[in-house]
Amino acid sequence: MKKILVTRPLPEPVIAALSTANKVAVRAETGPMSDAEMVAALGRFDAVLPTIGDRFTAEIFAAAGEIRTRLMANFGVGYNHIDVEAARAHGVGVTNTPGVLTDATADLALTLILATARRAGEGERLVRAGGWTGWHPTQLLGTHVTGKTVGIVGMGRIGEAIARRCHHGFGMEVVFYNRSPKTPALPARQIDTLDALAQAADIVVAAVPGGAETHHLLGKAFFAAMKPSGLFINIARGDVVDEAALIAALGAGEIAGAGLDVYEREPEVPDALKAMENVTLLPHLGSATLETRTAMGMLAAENILAFFAGQELLTPV
Ligand code: DGY
Repeated sequence: MKKILVTRPLPEPVIAALSTANKVAVRAETGPMSDAEMVAALGRFDAVLPTIGDRFTAEIFAAAGEIRTRLMANFGVGYNHIDVEAARAHGVGVTNTPGVLTDATADLALTLILATARRAGEGERLVRAGGWTGWHPTQLLGTHVTGKTVGIVGMGRIGEAIARRCHHGFGMEVVFYNRSPKTPALPARQIDTLDALAQAADIVVAAVPGGAETHHLLGKAFFAAMKPSGLFINIARGDVVDEAALIAALGAGEIAGAGLDVYEREPEVPDALKAMENVTLLPHLGSATLETRTAMGMLAAENILAFFAGQELLTPV
């Protein structure tokens, strides 16, 4: 019987699918694994189903000595917490969960766009604090979203799903930046430089994968190039953005607001951001629907089961 470690509690059907022919250990904690736990897991389990925060670095693989694990089936499309090269060098394959969380994540980008533009967080705080004294014509005036220009940084699956919603749902003009040429299935204009995108967009959405290549892709110069009325949305990874530069740009009024689902040092959220009324802050909810989290878990489980059956991996990275 193969031994599998699931590093967080997951929806029940996922554990049931893995348990039919394998011995499954589910870690009860909801926080990231410690270094010692990761090192021990690599020596004890045939497959590990890790997720964001479980930082399987080259040092962890090196410290593990004799490695029993042959597959890490990551729960999540983003896998920048796993050193894939080091995993490979130690004979460990890696899979992720693309596709199944595209819609949920795109929906959350729209949640942040609307909440930030229409000052929903501020309004909610006002009502809950008992401070609402009644409707009046100039109360909490926000920014119109319909018909504006959205600038999407990264036209992958999620970027395109956001573009679709913005175009078909809100009649927005779509411009985008992508390293390679892309032809999304909707009217959208590819822009060659980040600077030009910043200047053209009323609302910028970061939708690039995390990792060394996109670390601090958007920083001081980018925010300076944005319109003073511009809104910045991040549903990608926190370190795609130079968070200090974003805070400085918001503080200096270089941009009008931000909607953030991800942070540079999660779960740490800078006090400076918490103090800003024009910033919507969510706790990394991109894929957080029961349907999506179940689908992510099932895809990770299917990768593990296929691997044990000697079949091709469904979604290798
Ligand atoms: C992912 O899959 O990378 C998401 O950020 C997890 O919700």
